[in-house]
Amino acid sequence: MDFDIKDKSLAEAGAHRISWAARDMPVLRKIAEDFAREKPLKGIRMSACLHVTTETANLMKALKAGGADVYLCASNPLSTQDDVAASLVVNDGIPVFAIKGEDNDTYYRHIRAVLDIKPHVTMDDGADLVSTLHSHYPEWVKEMIGGTEETTTGVIRLKSMAQKGVLGFPVVAVNDSQTKHLFDNRYGTGQSTLDGIMRATNRLFAGSTVVVAGYGWCGRGIARRAQGMGARVIVTEIDPIKALEAVMDGYSVAPMKEAAKLGDFFITVTGNINVVGAEAFDAMKDGAIVCNSGHFNVELNLPYLESISKERSILRDFVEEFVTRDGRRIMVLGEGRLINLASAEGHPAQVMDMSFANQALGAKYLVQNRKTLEKTVVRLPEAVDQDIAALKLAALGVKIETLTEEQKDYLASWEMGT
Ligand code: ADE
Repeated sequence: MDFDIKDKSLAEAGAHRISWAARDMPVLRKIAEDFAREKPLKGIRMSACLHVTTETANLMKALKAGGADVYLCASNPLSTQDDVAASLVVNDGIPVFAIKGEDNDTYYRHIRAVLDIKPHVTMDDGADLVSTLHSHYPEWVKEMIGGTEETTTGVIRLKSMAQKGVLGFPVVAVNDSQTKHLFDNRYGTGQSTLDGIMRATNRLFAGSTVVVAGYGWCGRGIARRAQGMGARVIVTEIDPIKALEAVMDGYSVAPMKEAAKLGDFFITVTGNINVVGAEAFDAMKDGAIVCNSGHFNVELNLPYLESISKERSILRDFVEEFVTRDGRRIMVLGEGRLINLASAEGHPAQVMDMSFANQALGAKYLVQNRKTLEKTVVRLPEAVDQDIAALKLAALGVKIETLTEEQKDYLASWEMGT
């Protein structure tokens, strides 16, 4: 079996951590049990490009239980947990191509390694597999069943491909499921981003000013948690509705060039480029800490920061200091890559349980509906979303109401008023 990981001897430690995560993934466990019985992915070759974490390992095991022949590479050079990669190879016989800290060439070599199996189905977090397939293996695209996509940034890329008429197969936008973005993006990114900053810096949030760029579900989650820890939060936004929501949620809202003068911490979660740009770096205070929790590191204009700096040095793991020519010290965390996975462990298993339930059921949905799905970005049916939420509630021991016949009639009627 071909693979490329850091060190096979880490497998035992990885296996323990994978089991720990599995305890908090009851929905995925149920799906894995169903998959083991029904084998909905029998004979399907799958290439997966995901953050190689304990939660991802449980997803890989579920897909394998469903009959898939699955190959895994990293969806970010800094997010791999090397012990997890080792355990998947050694204990589960799943080929993994991922090493924490790999350079760009190795990252793309690993992507090509998992695509070399000529997949029927891809599973992406950021759309690198789909984009590499369309650019380098156009002949294979026509024969594929489809793909699934985990994250907002990837879905934006894919929708743009669909709009330009170049997307060659259907892709399930997992991020568009409510049981994904309402929980993973908000509570997962919210907690794990602060966790990443705290592990990297050991700094106190209380009494500090935190600038959150972007008030989507990730930004909402981060802002709420930073406020809860005693920080003053300033939100930057381009969307008037989201900006208004941030105001009414109790935050200051300001353009980045104003916020830049005040922030102690800067966190980007927009999915866009140069959100902390030249103007912001020029205005920042001495000692500012800057990081990104969006999918790609382009949210920070690091080449500009480098160009105005006279020195740079690593102060601690994941903390690099740039000293500007005018003498200010600006700290960049995790090379501007998603800080929650670079210096922490990503989202906790409780939310990845639902995200990866959507991934697993998304793969099954593609295979079952291969004859009818259009070559565009699709959502999982609402009923699947509802089922995942119901399973999660059951696992949490939470019971909810059901409609009475009288209530159903009432909702269906239009004649009844006061
Ligand atoms: N994305 C964010 N957190 C993650 C995790 N724990 N596993 C896989 N992908 C993630």
